[in-house]
Amino acid sequence: MNKMFFIKNYFLSAALFSLVINLLILSPMIYAFQLFGRVISSKSIEALWLLTFLLLIALFVMGALETVKAYILVAANNAIDAMISPDLLKKMVEGATSPEQNPYHYALADLQAVRTFLTGHGMIQVMEVFWLPVYFLIIFLMHPMMLMALIVGAILMWLVTVITGYLTGPLLSEANAASSNTARFVNSAMQNAEVVNSMGMLPSLIQRWSSLNDRVMVLQTRASNRAGAISGVSKFLSTLIGVSGMTVSAYISLDTKTMMNPGLMMAGFIMFGRAIAPIMYVTNSWKSIVDTCSSYIRLEKFFKQIREDSPVLMELPPPTGQISLEQVTFGIRASNKVILKDISFSLAAGETLGIIGPSASGKSSMARLLVGVWKPLQGVVRMDGADISNWPSERIGRYIGYLPQNIELFAGTIADNIARLDEPDSEQVIAAANLAGLHEIILQMPNGYDTQIGEGGDFLSGGQRQRIGFARALYGNPKLLVLDEPNASLDTAGETALINALIKVRMAGVTTILITHNPNYLSQVDKLLILQNGTLAAFGPKDWVLAQAQQAKTPQAQVNA
Ligand SMILES: Nc1ncnc2c1ncn2[C@@H]1O[C@H](COP(=O)(O)OP(=O)(O)OP(=O)(O)O)[C@@H](O)[C@H]1O
Ligand SMILES: [Mg+2]
Repeated sequence: MNKMFFIKNYFLSAALFSLVINLLILSPMIYAFQLFGRVISSKSIEALWLLTFLLLIALFVMGALETVKAYILVAANNAIDAMISPDLLKKMVEGATSPEQNPYHYALADLQAVRTFLTGHGMIQVMEVFWLPVYFLIIFLMHPMMLMALIVGAILMWLVTVITGYLTGPLLSEANAASSNTARFVNSAMQNAEVVNSMGMLPSLIQRWSSLNDRVMVLQTRASNRAGAISGVSKFLSTLIGVSGMTVSAYISLDTKTMMNPGLMMAGFIMFGRAIAPIMYVTNSWKSIVDTCSSYIRLEKFFKQIREDSPVLMELPPPTGQISLEQVTFGIRASNKVILKDISFSLAAGETLGIIGPSASGKSSMARLLVGVWKPLQGVVRMDGADISNWPSERIGRYIGYLPQNIELFAGTIADNIARLDEPDSEQVIAAANLAGLHEIILQMPNGYDTQIGEGGDFLSGGQRQRIGFARALYGNPKLLVLDEPNASLDTAGETALINALIKVRMAGVTTILITHNPNYLSQVDKLLILQNGTLAAFGPKDWVLAQAQQAKTPQAQVNA
């Protein structure tokens, strides 16, 4: 289903509504024309009642249509949201692991902007603009001079808007940028409040905030002063243009040659007002209309991208856990930084690999490539022969267990977290917790598996977080387990539990990749890989690699660290 097609269809139905309502809106004009032109001169009370009755019917139909339109708007709004938001969120989250800038970061905000416009006042006003030629024609037929007045008025309004934009636009965008800078600063101050409060950083923090905030205030004041000065001009002008319809029609009727009757004069005035409203709206909201258009264009590109990115893939059989890297290079394009260079190795299903190397040598980056959250710049990472970055994560993800260095838990219960936010299957949750040596510890918590762990697991200790992250990685019997420094916050009991779990998964034939600085875990690995400055310094059976390292001396210090 083409989702943009739905939005386009919606445009069409909005246009249709606009047509009917616009036709009905002409009824007061016709009423005035008849009333002042004929009824008053003929002094017929019956004609007055009849005309009023007809007008009432027209206004009633218009009101009913407005109500129906409001319902359709709400329904369309909800439908657009339900159809589109999940896709956008999916793409946003997928993009969020990219170390490059995430092009989809603002997709939901874009959708929000387009939706507000489509289903709100904006769309209706813009639709009116399309009927302007009709109004112009009618006004022209009444008298060319009225059309002239209207066009001159519109041009003047337009000029004021352009001048306002020119004088305040750059100042306002500078002020907005400064303001979001300040907001980000406050955000990180709140997040790092522990550090701030414990080390007396508050005065310096407030000073920094003040200087950021001062800048915002200065810019905003300057922009507001300018806008204020212009707003007087614009108010004067818009009222003047409104009244000028009356002036011009009175002027015309004074001219004996044209003989404009009072009915035509009233009708002309009403028409003039109808035509000027959308013109004023569009000139005043020009910037937001342009912004909405660019949001719409971004969304359209985005959906095109989604269609291109999601070829219909054949369902592959569940993987066995065989892994291979073929000349994999990874780096950050934006900064031209190479993080991993030309790495090749492979593991048979069920093998256990230890990865060691100094800090910043690229171990965590390698873990991200192995689980497919980063895509190599060159080369491929394959699982059972298939490129892992093309394997949709919702299909491959359940065969992968990943414990990142920053554990990343969710607000929710322990069971929710272990079950990867899925509906928790208690048998599997308990099996994973048991394997991680965590079952007894969880039972001692206030609500057992249903204990809420707070935002990001805030209510837990560092070791508890690490172990719940480990249980989550083990949930659902994965075929590939990637553990990035799984022991970082563990006590002796936790370490023993981890080693026991490693023995069990090894026996169960799970391909396990263990990134660690702790030589204790190396007893559990078949193979060893040493990373140095983003390159593969050694790879092979553990004892062989260790012997090599012994000879080469340099990596030895790291191995023993
Ligand atoms: N998201 C990122 N954006 C830019 N550079 C990054 C990013 N993540 C990692 N790097 C860079 O990649 C290099 C390798 O980092 P990585 O986290 O893989 O090291 P590591 O071996 O896991 O280190 P540690 O032992 O300290 O965890 C570092 O120089 C780091 O600055
Ligand atoms: Mg790391």
